[in-house]
Amino acid sequence: MKRPPRIAVLGSLNIDLTYRVPQLPVPGETIPCKEVSKGFGGKGANQAIAARRAGAEVVMIGCLGNDADGTQYLERLVAEGINTEGVSRIDDSPTGSAIICVEDSGENSIIVHGGANDRTSTEIVESHRSSIEQADLLLTQFECPYKSVQLASRIAAEAGTKVIVNPSPWNAKFNTYSIPCDFLITNELEAELLASGSSIGPDRTISERLDHVQTKCLVVTNGSQATTATTTCGEHYSDTPAQTIPVDTVGAGDTFAGYFGFAAAQERPIPEILRIANVAGAMATQKIGAQSSMPWRNEVEEEMQRNKFISA
Ligand code: RIB
Repeated sequence: MKRPPRIAVLGSLNIDLTYRVPQLPVPGETIPCKEVSKGFGGKGANQAIAARRAGAEVVMIGCLGNDADGTQYLERLVAEGINTEGVSRIDDSPTGSAIICVEDSGENSIIVHGGANDRTSTEIVESHRSSIEQADLLLTQFECPYKSVQLASRIAAEAGTKVIVNPSPWNAKFNTYSIPCDFLITNELEAELLASGSSIGPDRTISERLDHVQTKCLVVTNGSQATTATTTCGEHYSDTPAQTIPVDTVGAGDTFAGYFGFAAAQERPIPEILRIANVAGAMATQKIGAQSSMPWRNEVEEEMQRNKFISA
């Protein structure tokens, strides 16, 4: 493919308030915070920014409130070079928001208020049918209504647009029969939840217990040290950047998904897709914030030259 890949992202847009704390609070505890920052987030928009920084042409489909946060967010997307024709403004719902606590070890906990994201209706998806049909790939997650994700995936599948589903945050309704996808990107926890639907007992390996999942390629990320992944596309691949100590892992999975989407839309071989997504995801753990930590492709390529890989 000579031209940049075209990616449609259906997903959430949030304003993130990030609190740096020595340790995450336990129930009932009040703790002081060393540093607080406001930034742009939401899994959908994060993945859109990552795909864009990788080099894709990106159209964002989602909802913002008709408020100051929504206006700033829209300006931000435009500045990143994202096509915002698919972003609707909702009058009676605020822009989505998230309270994020990050402790010194890099571990985090997140509370999300869906706000306008919850208003991303099937009618809105239908009105952007042509953006999905004309894209090489649709990238979607679960911070928007399930029915809308379902419709977008079906439109894409019928049009021959590849589909990546990142089932995060987990939705118990999810199965790959109701939402068709070519690539399913899960973390270890989501993979375990998927495996709980298997008729094969818990004593077997996770890949054996995921045999009921209908997708061409199941990717399981492991973000504990850096973002790494294995897949079930015929073989298992693990292509691990040299270990790094995370500063903040928020947005690392989204960076992985956005870069994965970019390379998958270009139909690169799986080991290559994993390598660029792993390195980009790992780089995103080295700075604070979701979108503010996402690398551009030239930085990722430089890092790939420098990095030593461990292949399994
Ligand atoms: O994946 C990280 C994102 O999750 C944050 O940006 C936050 O908004 C929540 O959606």
